[in-house]
Amino acid sequence: MNKASNVKTPIPGPKSREYIEKWHSFEANKTGFQAPVAIQSGRGAVLKDVDGNTFIDWTSGVLVANVGHCHPKLVQAIQTAANTVLNCYEYPTPQRVSAAEALVRSAPLHLDTCFFLCTGAEATEAAVKIMKKATGCYEIIGFFGGFHGRTHNAASVGGMLKAKKGYGPAVPGVIRLPFPYCYRCPFSASIDSCGMMCIDYYDQVILANSTGSIAGIIVEPYLGTAGFIFPPSGWLKRLEAWAKDRGFLFTLDEVQSSFGRTGTMWAMEWEDSKPDIVAVGKGIGSGITTSAILLTKILLEHIEPGDLGSTNGGTPISTAACSAVLQILMEDRLVENSQSMGEIMKLRLQDVQEKSSILGDVRGKGLVLGLELVKDKISKEPAPEQARELVLRCAEKGLLIGIVGSCGNVIRVAPPLVITEEQVHESLDILEGALLGIT
Ligand SMILES: Cc1ncc(COP(=O)(O)O)c(C=O)c1O
Repeated sequence: MNKASNVKTPIPGPKSREYIEKWHSFEANKTGFQAPVAIQSGRGAVLKDVDGNTFIDWTSGVLVANVGHCHPKLVQAIQTAANTVLNCYEYPTPQRVSAAEALVRSAPLHLDTCFFLCTGAEATEAAVKIMKKATGCYEIIGFFGGFHGRTHNAASVGGMLKAKKGYGPAVPGVIRLPFPYCYRCPFSASIDSCGMMCIDYYDQVILANSTGSIAGIIVEPYLGTAGFIFPPSGWLKRLEAWAKDRGFLFTLDEVQSSFGRTGTMWAMEWEDSKPDIVAVGKGIGSGITTSAILLTKILLEHIEPGDLGSTNGGTPISTAACSAVLQILMEDRLVENSQSMGEIMKLRLQDVQEKSSILGDVRGKGLVLGLELVKDKISKEPAPEQARELVLRCAEKGLLIGIVGSCGNVIRVAPPLVITEEQVHESLDILEGALLGIT
């Protein structure tokens, strides 16, 4: 069998080294940590660097390339759209109208309208503003470890220190609740017996912190940037009921969890959630900049013309990409592939967990799995140095992985949803070999 990965040079190879040096002399060297390779091209779940080395990709960019790198139908759709008109701002185009219809039809029935924007942060910002304007209230509930983007308001409603540190006071009026991080429960409780006591605690936090003007909640179905932290099953539904009982609007930030990533088209399908607003991004364009909010038309009554908009939102190229992605997901049965490949990966990774002294937790759904590395399994002290070492070792063998987590110790396993079973096993062999070599 031909292997997908093939590394012929040291990492970085000579050309990658040259590109990286030149890059750093002209563009700010302030990106996150990754393997030192310069990418030449990508197809499906495989990336090629400028030295001709090939790697199986477990990053999908950053959970973006859901339909695989450069899917021919996506490339064709954007090439065709590029030949029509590139920007006509708020005029409708055939591409925009079709994509709006396709997006709304792909979502649960109650979400009967949408609006196209550019980035995930723009979508979450829009959701927060709509919740405020629609209710006339100004407080927003967010979560410990929540991440909704790097703009000031999006960072403010999140619960990640790194996104806020050094920028002075965050936007006021945010109340943050503990997310159920069961591997490190803030209440030192056990999921088998806790009865999800964290939800019972939320009322006390509100009583102590709110001025009685709560507009709504924004929550990720799982904490992405904070470390692929999945809540126990049933939690999302209980949270939604808790919010709705108190008259709070409910926004689900599906910027990274949608478009098949978790083995269902939407994370809101896990427990039949009915959010008032859903923010989407990343996979919706699978590489073409686009994002959107989905919502109920009733909420639009509170929004005035011109309140929603973005210079490059809803362009023919970006909306053609959205329609193509939706079609490819269906035709190529990628949601199903996400689920079945995810199951294979999780089982094997749980097996590796038993053999490894530093793999503390394996969690996730579909093709979004988090591997939490710890210095030892009893103290659970985070192991960020080992995470970085693993990234480098894997790259040397032909696998590109990324790191997330508030402590930088969680490996993100998030390949394009087109990954094949052969590629799954080949990449797991690389991961296992590299991980078991680290203590
Ligand atoms: C859940 C979530 N929301 C919002 C964002 C922000 O998206 P963008 O970087 O496109 O602004 C991200 C990005 O990682 C995310 O993971």
